[in-house]
Amino acid sequence: MTKSNSTRETFSGRRAFIIAAIGSAVGLGNIWRFPYTTYENGGGAFIIPYLIALLTAGIPLLFLDYAIGHRHRGGAPLSYRRFSQHFEAFGWWQVMVNVIIGLYYAVVLGWAATYTYFSFTTAWGAKPIDFFVGEFLKMGDITQGVSFEFVGMVVGPLIVVWLVALAVLALGVQKGIAKSSAILMPVLVIMFFVLVISSLFLPGAAKGLDALFTPDWSKLADPSVWIAAYGQIFFSLSICFGIMITYASYLKKDSDLTGAGLVVGFANSSFEVLAGIGVFAALGFMATASGQEVSEVAKGGIGLAFFAFPTIINEAPFGEVLGVLFFGSLTFAALTSFISVIEVIISAVQDKLRIRRAKVTFLVGIPMMILSVLLFGTTTGLPMLDVMDKFVNYFGIVAVAFVSLIAIVANEKLGVLGNHLNETSSFKVGFIWRLCIVITTGILAFMLFSEGAKVFTEGYEGYPNWFVNTFGWGMSILLVIVAVLLSRLKWKNEIQFSEE
Ligand code: ALA
Repeated sequence: MTKSNSTRETFSGRRAFIIAAIGSAVGLGNIWRFPYTTYENGGGAFIIPYLIALLTAGIPLLFLDYAIGHRHRGGAPLSYRRFSQHFEAFGWWQVMVNVIIGLYYAVVLGWAATYTYFSFTTAWGAKPIDFFVGEFLKMGDITQGVSFEFVGMVVGPLIVVWLVALAVLALGVQKGIAKSSAILMPVLVIMFFVLVISSLFLPGAAKGLDALFTPDWSKLADPSVWIAAYGQIFFSLSICFGIMITYASYLKKDSDLTGAGLVVGFANSSFEVLAGIGVFAALGFMATASGQEVSEVAKGGIGLAFFAFPTIINEAPFGEVLGVLFFGSLTFAALTSFISVIEVIISAVQDKLRIRRAKVTFLVGIPMMILSVLLFGTTTGLPMLDVMDKFVNYFGIVAVAFVSLIAIVANEKLGVLGNHLNETSSFKVGFIWRLCIVITTGILAFMLFSEGAKVFTEGYEGYPNWFVNTFGWGMSILLVIVAVLLSRLKWKNEIQFSEE
């Protein structure tokens, strides 16, 4: 039996939900994180832990998120509250994780949008790295303290992307989220296909693909490769941090949950592999053109998108077109994911305070926009982003996933959630599904403690201790404290919590 809020919005149907869920999943994680993570962790050999992580953790946990949201018909805190009063804080912890991700995701989205515009004229000139850190970000020295010197070229687009996302969100689930995904996702797929195919025709593309797919089997014995595979799946599939719970809560009652989950899971991974092929084909071209090895030109994360790609665009035939396709794809992919991140917060606050969506959207969105500018719109925005991204991934997403799964498994909730999935779904779940979740809980514990020990003893990327302690550890602990406090606040109006 499910609980329903008579006023809860819904997606118009399964198709609208699937497109929105793929829109949420396909984001920065696919285009800028997956290619480099694969390359760094054994190339072709990484595909094995990646597929194992997808099949044993990604898809099963995606089903679990769907079951929680769909059965309990609420955002993350309300859904967890409907398990038990003691569970509500898990939902708020997930909401807080989205607050942090939202604050910096908007910044990268703003950069991507700006670089789409820059691509028309290759505005970064002959030295893209110097341009990015110097002229564009005006990067300051974090060892001198956090700066409050704002960078106009970052702040302007940042405010614009916030306003666009809030406008979409204010329109609601179907008219805003579903409609915007229905427009942006097909455009993204077409742009990205054209980009990948064009990259394959660049001279030297095969060299890049060789580098990406030549397996280094010895890496499989390295636990950090497995951690990277699981980390990639969690972020990329948007699982265990409230997004899929929230989206599933807007699905109509008799929806095929597991069928939709399989489509979303495999679509996301296909997009990821396609991104790997496109990006490394382009890197192969860059290496060939500059007489270097692919290992010398392949840079992680920010470097890959904002250093390597502008260089490729400078040298490739019809580079400007490739630039618009690449940064345009990054912008569209990130926008639909950003919208889903903020929706988790809006939905949670709306459930708790019972006020109109438009009002909640701006009540939540405007303070977040201001905070986003204050933290990341300055000359020290980049190191801030780096630290917060690392910590919120491991000591936010992985930590809340671990703790909430322990609670669900220990309180024997898996059975009831499995039954809920089987009531309306085409693909039935059973013992193997439950086993995967239990094993994944163990793997999460390992990830958490091994990464925790590493960062605790070695620090992070050579940043000063005060900085990592404040914006890394401090931020991670603050999320838990705020989550517990929010879970203590009274719910407005009559709301039914009992499970049956
Ligand atoms: N799933 C989203 C991404 O990959 C958050 O960027």
